[in-house]
Amino acid sequence: MARVLRDGAFEGETHIVTGAAQGIGRAVATALAEHAAQVVLVDLDPGRLAEARDAIAEVAPVSPIVAAANVADEDDVKKAVASALEATGAINGVVNVAGITRDARIAKKSFDDFKAVVAVHLHGTFLFTREVAAQHWHPLFKANGNQPLDDGVNRFILNFSSVSARNGNIGQVDYTAAKGAIESVTKTTAREFSSYRARINAIAPGPVRTPMLAAVGDEGIAAMGRATLTGKIAEPEQMAAVICSLADPRISGYITGEILQVNGGMYLD
Ligand SMILES: NC(=O)c1ccc[n+]([C@@H]2O[C@H](COP(=O)([O-])OP(=O)(O)OC[C@H]3O[C@@H](n4cnc5c(N)ncnc54)[C@H](O)[C@@H]3O)[C@@H](O)[C@H]2O)c1
Repeated sequence: MARVLRDGAFEGETHIVTGAAQGIGRAVATALAEHAAQVVLVDLDPGRLAEARDAIAEVAPVSPIVAAANVADEDDVKKAVASALEATGAINGVVNVAGITRDARIAKKSFDDFKAVVAVHLHGTFLFTREVAAQHWHPLFKANGNQPLDDGVNRFILNFSSVSARNGNIGQVDYTAAKGAIESVTKTTAREFSSYRARINAIAPGPVRTPMLAAVGDEGIAAMGRATLTGKIAEPEQMAAVICSLADPRISGYITGEILQVNGGMYLD
């Protein structure tokens, strides 16, 4: 995609992106890498990760590194953050994108599916948030005499909610519960991590053209587009552009604890 920020905007920074093998996560990872971030791609399958890494390396000045991990697995997340730190020495940002859906109305929703959806979205977001603090930002804070990290280093976490967190969505009691909780997690994390001078925000997209929407079909996608004020669903690159702006302290240095609605006017908060 075309760069949206100045050349080399994230030069010297390391950004972890989960769910990076496809869809929005891949577009986000590509965009951050195009702005010279050292991106750490996290997803379930090493083969798909390698394919994403190779494709991004062709268009970005810095080749991504990969860390296969289930974001809902505590040990996997600990290891992914440790390996990113070992490889790069510092983590500037985490973008928690990984997600799944298991749509079914409440009466027919299995408890296993409910738990699986909450685990990937909410547990995954919490685990990456905790590990980057536990392994990296909190030790820096302690070494600084428990004083705020006013060192000018860019630090951020960007989480993924959804328009359906506030608007509700039939079949998605698990997904909307997790997304609503992620919005609250974002605010609490922003308060706690202010000592690290880390900015913590989330975006709440409307419908975006990714494999997650495959089951909706062409007519469903067209109907979703008509439900927006733009007439179309979004492309993953449009989410990536917003993420780049929120990651950039020159643009968003005074934004933290915010949930940005990026839904084409489908829902007006
Ligand atoms: N596509 C949309 O319309 C839409 C709308 C609002 C919000 N979102 C959110 O955006 C994010 C990305 O969605 P997408 O449409 O790109 O989805 P997608 O299904 O295209 O991609 C999700 C990626 O996450 C990975 N993933 C799933 N479970 C994982 C796990 N346990 N550990 C590691 N990786 C895992 C998958 O392998 C996949 O590569 C999700 O959080 C989703 O809820 C999407």
